[in-house]
Amino acid sequence: MSIITELESLRDSALERISQAADLAALDAVRVDVLGKKGSLTGVLRGLGALSAEERPAVGKVSNEVRAALEQALEERKALLAEAALSARVAADAVDVTLPGRKRLPGRAHLINQITAEVVDIFTGLGYAIAEGPEAELDYYNFTALNHPPTHPARSATDTFYVRDLSEGGASGPITDVLLRTHTSPVQVRVLEQQKPPVYVLAPGRVYRRDIADPSHLPQFHQIEGLVVDEGITFGDLKGTLDYVCKELFGKDRKTRFRPHFFPFTEPSAEVDVSCGICAGSGCRFCKYTGWQEILGCGMVDPNVFGYVDIDPEVYTGFAFGMGVERIAALRYDIPDLRMLVEGDMRFLRQF
Ligand code: PHE
Repeated sequence: MSIITELESLRDSALERISQAADLAALDAVRVDVLGKKGSLTGVLRGLGALSAEERPAVGKVSNEVRAALEQALEERKALLAEAALSARVAADAVDVTLPGRKRLPGRAHLINQITAEVVDIFTGLGYAIAEGPEAELDYYNFTALNHPPTHPARSATDTFYVRDLSEGGASGPITDVLLRTHTSPVQVRVLEQQKPPVYVLAPGRVYRRDIADPSHLPQFHQIEGLVVDEGITFGDLKGTLDYVCKELFGKDRKTRFRPHFFPFTEPSAEVDVSCGICAGSGCRFCKYTGWQEILGCGMVDPNVFGYVDIDPEVYTGFAFGMGVERIAALRYDIPDLRMLVEGDMRFLRQF
């Protein structure tokens, strides 16, 4: 085989390997194999010295052409592979700028807390102080000192959550004198034990009743209690105060009415209704087809309650009221089911 044929077949196989090189490392290996110090072309060129003077120019020309062809092929392949490597990296690191960003929503108070804060604002504006009492309450404050006779139906274990003594008989141990308060009214007694008149207090808090949750009831809900005890307080003061508060809370377009009622700890007593905003008074499931929604109970403090806290009913009179915060929320925003307030569905809660 002549040296020229040898050069040509070396070129052809090297070109083939170059075109097959899958990445830059493989390509460089081909370059070293052919053009490196110990490379195959280098070996052939080293043998040129042994050629005769006549052969040398022709072989020299071909070998230069082969080297040039291989160098060019290496350059071209290198550029191609470098570009492929770059686009592969770009594709791997890709950020899809058309994807929606992640929204960070600001936190907010739950609707019940918003309304409580609003009512607290209204009453602190009228000069009331804020009071608190325990949610796990003594029977004495929840019922007895509020003039409930021992046989009052609200004391029944089907209406009220009682704490049992687990040390005697476990889960069926005897009922104790501790219960989950069924209203915020026990705070009235606690305040009057601590403070002599004049008393103007507001007591927001959580309360519990053994009710099955339905559109208008929750077993755990919120009330805001008000208590005023001073000289010369009349039912007119109560009406004027609650009229003002209802207008602040519901606006002038919602109607209110006072309805005679009974509570063991107030005499006389009344319930206040607001016209149902869901059916605009025509009657619906939420207002039990009456067109009205009860939002609070109220009345003049019963002299028997003053007896438990040692206040002279001949000197002082007072009024009290307790409003349901969930009902206020439902009436203001036409919420058809109180359970929506505790289900934690952000699509609903974010509206407020
Ligand atoms: N505690 C009563 C209830 O929960 C409401 C009320 C409070 C009534 C104060 C009169 C005075 O229904």
